[in-house]
Amino acid sequence: MMRMQELLIGGTETAATTVEWAMAEMMTHPDVMKRAQEELHAVVGRDRLMQESDVPNLPFLQAVVKETFRFHAPTPLAVPRASSQAAEAWGYTIPAGSQLLLNLRAIHRDPAFYTNPDEFDPQRFLDRPEVNHLSGFSFYELIPFGTGRRMCPGVNLGNTMVHLMLGNLVHNFDWSFPKDQSVETCQRENLEEIFGLTACRKEALRLCAKPSDHIQSMLRNTCSQSTQTRV
Ligand code: HEM
Repeated sequence: MMRMQELLIGGTETAATTVEWAMAEMMTHPDVMKRAQEELHAVVGRDRLMQESDVPNLPFLQAVVKETFRFHAPTPLAVPRASSQAAEAWGYTIPAGSQLLLNLRAIHRDPAFYTNPDEFDPQRFLDRPEVNHLSGFSFYELIPFGTGRRMCPGVNLGNTMVHLMLGNLVHNFDWSFPKDQSVETCQRENLEEIFGLTACRKEALRLCAKPSDHIQSMLRNTCSQSTQTRV
């Protein structure tokens, strides 16, 4: 049985934390930000907002999201579980009733699966587009939503929310640091996290957003249309 509170907490902070980490990494990797913006302008264009149906046509954005899930899994120890029966794994006996923590952080940064695992590099998933972090069964090297029968029930909603939020932030705004921030300070802060419900940045990410030209003209058109309707 699931409580409404669990759905609300599990469903909001995880996605918001992921988007904040993605923006923080893109601001310290301007080449990644530029490439994602170029892809969005080419695929979505400049006269509408990005929609869910655009996601399959945005391979670089998908790679950025996968790399953010890998590098900053919002729940690095998943959700504590207990084994209902005794089991054997790698020669260890796990008695019934043991509390189990799945260390996603260690799996996602395992050098046996990833080259330079401590570097943020979306290219690794462009090179392996088949890696599906939603499957829960086939690609154990990337399991931000957990795995098995108790994997996150909000996996598709969570994944879609992250793509839509991040895609629209990147597509519709140009981003810069406030005067007291720089790539270096942001890089330093990216190393510090606090672990509550999710592992989020210790310092909230502060950025300046300038609406892109296409958003400004879309807003002007909407305002003039609504004025005409009222008249
Ligand atoms: C970026 C988005 C999200 C991530 C990364 C995420 C991650 C996870 C993980 C790792 C687990 C534990 C799975 C396991 O033990 O194997 C989990 C469980 C859970 N998630 Fe999510 N989640 C996200 C979004 C959501 C959304 C949108 C909802 C609901 C609307 C949700 C509701 C839940 C609930 C209720 C559980 C507990 C399930 C149980 O105890 O069986 N999550 N999530």
